[in-house]
Amino acid sequence: MNLTIIGTGFVGVVSSGVFASFGNIVYGLDIDQKKVDMLTRAEIPFYEPGLEQLVKEGVAKKTLTFTTDYTKAIPSSDVIMIAVGTPSAMDGQADLTYVFAAAKSLAPHLKDGAIVAVKSTVPPGTCDKVAQVIRDNGGTKPFHVVSLPEFLKEGSAVEDTLHPDRIIIGATDAMVIEKLKELHKPLGAPVVVMKPESAQMCKYTSNAYLATRITFINQIANLCEANGANIQEVIAGIGLDKRIGKHYWYPGLGYGGSCFPKDVKELAAYAKAIGQENNLMVTVSTLNEERMVSLLSTFEQQVGGWKGKTVAVLGLSFKPNTNDMREAPSTKAVPALLAAGAVVHSYDPMTNEEAARYFGSQKLSNFSNYHMATSVDEALKGAHVALVLVEWPQLITLEPSHIKELMVPNAIFIDCRDQYDRAEIEKVGLKYIGIGL
Ligand SMILES: NC(=O)c1ccc[n+]([C@@H]2O[C@H](COP(=O)([O-])OP(=O)(O)OC[C@H]3O[C@@H](n4cnc5c(N)ncnc54)[C@H](O)[C@@H]3O)[C@@H](O)[C@H]2O)c1
Repeated sequence: MNLTIIGTGFVGVVSSGVFASFGNIVYGLDIDQKKVDMLTRAEIPFYEPGLEQLVKEGVAKKTLTFTTDYTKAIPSSDVIMIAVGTPSAMDGQADLTYVFAAAKSLAPHLKDGAIVAVKSTVPPGTCDKVAQVIRDNGGTKPFHVVSLPEFLKEGSAVEDTLHPDRIIIGATDAMVIEKLKELHKPLGAPVVVMKPESAQMCKYTSNAYLATRITFINQIANLCEANGANIQEVIAGIGLDKRIGKHYWYPGLGYGGSCFPKDVKELAAYAKAIGQENNLMVTVSTLNEERMVSLLSTFEQQVGGWKGKTVAVLGLSFKPNTNDMREAPSTKAVPALLAAGAVVHSYDPMTNEEAARYFGSQKLSNFSNYHMATSVDEALKGAHVALVLVEWPQLITLEPSHIKELMVPNAIFIDCRDQYDRAEIEKVGLKYIGIGL
């Protein structure tokens, strides 16, 4: 099939590469000329394992072309996927500006019977609004608008897209459903067909459930800290109950990234807008927002104040295997530490460039106390406190004796991901602080 995927962000580039690898002719379309130029040279504007190779192959075989030109891509496309960003608006609800802008731009160029599939995470009712925007902007030929939510995870996005747990098609027209099933056939995944509104709720519900699981275990971790229980032992115990399972338990700093915080916030704002002030999502969102602040304050007491302390902040992305810093714990921790008078030495295996850009643009107080290290050793050298924020493999396999050698005497090791063994760390003479332990 001929496809256009609008928006060459994490979702758009991965989907473009995967569909091109199945022999479809794919345009990846973006309004960002710089991104399109990079992708045309098969350079990926962000870090995602396996993606460069996929894009390289598509570009070389000419099944994958990147462009900024709607008039070039849309007229030949059987399926157009909208995969632009949907940030939260000021009131917390989804800001659909980019989705509608894409719909407006594609409208006059649609071919007869084209399928416009909304891949961006959007609230129920958006397909009708997109259809209206298309009609209002020169979409005169028959077309279809459907929901095709995306479930990939950054850090394993290529793998997730090649081997999805399921494909959800939110559509009602039999011909459209058949065409979309055909497009996804090479993936060999179960396909679930439903109303567009249900498909959109599936996406929000998946993220809201996972975010709630993280918030739930953090709440239990708080209780463990007060009563001498160990959250990791509790997880091992509850995980064997088949109704609960041992996967996806992450006591820590709360959920971050480009999706969970905004999607939960959007559901919470929606619940409030329809008079459900007590909806669980409202509480989950608030608890998550408060978590980092309260943990930093607890750590501050445990280390005897941040002022004058050198803190090695290890891990700046929102999770391992990505350089995405959207809603990463570092974006809250680094400013707070600097404001409290600490000297911050940060290190991340992949995110230093983004971090330099991000923190450089934030007008942070005491910014002269911020230093970007180019190795974990450099970050730890002379530090009073180590703060492990992300479980990058390189950051969770450090030798305790090596850490001890680099840091000042009586240093404190704060393991926000519960990755190190307390006894091993304490054996070398460091003080250990974990989560829920
Ligand atoms: N990132 C994820 O892990 C993930 C996973 C599942 C779903 N989603 C959802 O998918 C959507 C896209 O997320 P993302 O992380 O890929 O976004 P992103 O911010 O990385 O990329 C969005 C891209 O859209 C482009 N764009 C904006 N307006 C445009 C227009 N009018 N025409 C063409 N291009 C335009 C931007 O320039 C940008 O390159 C969001 O709704 C998100 O919630 C994201």
